Amino acid sequence: MSEGFKVKLARSGQTVTVEKDSSILFALLDAGVSVPYSCSSGLCGTCEVDVLSGTPDHKDFVLTEEERATNRTIMICCSGVIGDEIELDL
Ligand code: FES
Repeated sequence: MSEGFKVKLARSGQTVTVEKDSSILFALLDAGVSVPYSCSSGLCGTCEVDVLSGTPDHKDFVLTEEERATNRTIMICCSGVIGDEIELDL
C-alpha cells in the first residue's frame, strides 16, 4: 500500500501510526514499545505477533502458505497491512 496505516495494540490500548516507508517494528520501537526481533528482514521469525483484527500483507519468508492464509500472525519487521488498520496482541 502507498499510504501509512495504524497499528492498535490490544493490551496497552496504544495506537501507533506506521508511515509508508517504515515498518511496524520500527514504528513500535520509535514509540517506545519493546518488541523482540532479530534479523529485521523476514527470515528468523523472532518478531512474530498474533493478529486480532485486520489483514496482514505478508512479506516474510517464515510462514507457510497455509499460515499466511489464516492471517492470524504477522512478522512485524517486514510485513505490511492491507487496509488502513491492524490490531495486534501487544
Ligand atoms: S525479526 Fe526476523 S523475521 Fe522479523
